[in-house]
Amino acid sequence: MAKAPMRVAVTGAAGQIGYSLLFRIANGDMLGKDQPVILQLLEIPDEKAQKALKGVMMEIDDCAFPLLAGMTAHSDPMTAFKDADVALLVGARPRGPGMERKDLLEANAQIFTVQGKALDAVASRNVKVLVVGNPANTNAYIAMKSAPNLPAKNFTAMLRLDHNRALSQLAAKVGKPITSIEKLCVWGNHSPTMYADFTHATVDGQPAKALVNDEAWTKDVYLPTVGKRGAAIIEARGLSSAASAANAAIDHVRDWVLGTNGKWTTMGIPSDGSYGIPEGIMFGFPVTTENGEYKIVQGLQIDAFSQERINLTLKELQEERDGVKHLVG
Ligand code: NAD
Ligand code: LMR
Repeated sequence: MAKAPMRVAVTGAAGQIGYSLLFRIANGDMLGKDQPVILQLLEIPDEKAQKALKGVMMEIDDCAFPLLAGMTAHSDPMTAFKDADVALLVGARPRGPGMERKDLLEANAQIFTVQGKALDAVASRNVKVLVVGNPANTNAYIAMKSAPNLPAKNFTAMLRLDHNRALSQLAAKVGKPITSIEKLCVWGNHSPTMYADFTHATVDGQPAKALVNDEAWTKDVYLPTVGKRGAAIIEARGLSSAASAANAAIDHVRDWVLGTNGKWTTMGIPSDGSYGIPEGIMFGFPVTTENGEYKIVQGLQIDAFSQERINLTLKELQEERDGVKHLVG
């Protein structure tokens, strides 16, 4: 028997990432090739944005995706999020000229407060929320805090792009395929303070650390390359990453819904206090997923260098959280 369609809400649907994301969701790349989907697309009420959204929807229609069971355009999160099973919060206020990080946090805090409240009011009680819009961890934290009637664990932030970037850099260094690497993770914030940790990783079952055996490369090349990759892409393309960000969003939700078969991945999730990260902080952790639930990988030995890096990214997230405290109560 055919499965009932799942409702997928996407914000910022007429933006760059939206253009790489929507077609893949409708193609079954995110929820499975046997899972029909209904797309509920949100853009700002601005006439130009709504017109651009209509254009994207025309193109989606023109693909005649067999799994697409419906599609609607919205300018109000209260209708866009109605009964949503999955919500991808991509739309955010970009940093403008002369804008400080604090201004960006404040502008986005407003968006994610409104959207968190709307999810709280109208989404499925099991909605899985992924925040992509930057600053992703703190925006996810704000949405979670604005939705007290939904389980906090339903709110996540995207660290998967960082995870995929780390995989790719490590695979190139050891000269092995991506699929040979396991147990890699990225701790903390989606910002240059993130810590891409391969101290537990294996390559074809062998410890990656011993294979790499190059501290200078790890500290001076690998960590800065992964941490500053977003800025490097903006510098090269004149625009921020879009297709790779959409791909990471697909990977994140697919693994959350369909499971990782015991393998590790990275998700930004509200801390349960593991590894000394204060409860509620939206933090990148190594996780495994099964039956639609994620679990933090427990019992890892954290060496002194790793601890120093984890403390640094935690400090930044605590500062961001303190910066929006007055808005989320
Ligand atoms: P974009 O500017 O091309 O598109 C964003 C879209 O969001 C625009 O069409 C805009 O109208 C819309 N939007 C703005 N506010 C909205 C709101 N309140 N409700 C609904 N829609 C709204 O940007 P993009 O390149 O698609 O990137 C989107 C976000 O994703 C940015 O914040 C970017 O920094 C972030 N990003 C995050 C990661 C990550 O790894 N977490 C990676 C890449 C980009
Ligand atoms: C990325 O990691 O590519 C983006 O978050 C960069 C950015 O600042 O938009």
